[in-house]
Amino acid sequence: MAKRRTSRSSHYRRARLRHFFLTRGLNRISGDRLRQRRRSDGVQLRELRVDIPGWPVELDGLSIAHVSDLHIGDLMSVNDAVRIIESLGDMNPDVVCNTGDVVDLDCLNLSSFFQATAALQPSLGNYLVLGNHDELDDPASVASQAEEAGISVLRNTVATASDGERTLRVGGIDWARSSSACRDQVNAAGAGNIDLLLSHNPKAFDRAAELGIPLTLSGHTHGGQIARKNRPNANLALAMTHRRNAGLYEKGDSRLFVTVGAGDLFPLRMNCPAEIVLLRIHRLEAG
Ligand SMILES: [Fe+2]
Repeated sequence: MAKRRTSRSSHYRRARLRHFFLTRGLNRISGDRLRQRRRSDGVQLRELRVDIPGWPVELDGLSIAHVSDLHIGDLMSVNDAVRIIESLGDMNPDVVCNTGDVVDLDCLNLSSFFQATAALQPSLGNYLVLGNHDELDDPASVASQAEEAGISVLRNTVATASDGERTLRVGGIDWARSSSACRDQVNAAGAGNIDLLLSHNPKAFDRAAELGIPLTLSGHTHGGQIARKNRPNANLALAMTHRRNAGLYEKGDSRLFVTVGAGDLFPLRMNCPAEIVLLRIHRLEAG
């Protein structure tokens, strides 16, 4: 236990330094103009159809609201996060998935955000997995606040939901940094026979594809926040060794969607607008 606390606090100290220079510092130098401009740009609601071979017939047309990387803190208030999640209300998603980094650095009172998320009342479940930033300060509090609102926090576990006509099996894993660590988490979750995997880190996709999991949802990369014009995959995240960093990927019959996220690590985005995404998943018939 003592070793884990030391390790966590060193991560936290490094994150505080990053926060001081990249999050708060950059913005202060700009006289708060960077944050204000980002806020006025808002968050786009994007709709995307995904066709998957082997997607269950009974789940054809499933709608999934995918939210990630809000980074509630200096650049994103809890009230702004509530407004973003409430914008999904008219879409009536069947499932709501939050792939982590709810907070940026310190764990805050998140009850209004999680209550707004729960109020969407998706018929096949409301899920959260934790990101690396959620683990910096108090991951147990982030998880318990979500659970108190009725959200299923998947920490290397699998959940099954049914609405009477359809059954959905969802697995979710805790933050893991490397592909091999992600592999261990997916194995620990017993996620072999599921429809949907949630992993903050897209590097879990290699194991998901090996297991034949039809769909994996991830965040974490922010799409680098700065990308080349008309080339969203040529971005700062790529320079950080994330080759699957924005959008849809396939390997065999499996699919991965990586959202560029709703919030920011630093108060600047270029050619990489912040987003929440409504995915409509269809079964791809052979031939
Ligand atoms: Fe993030």
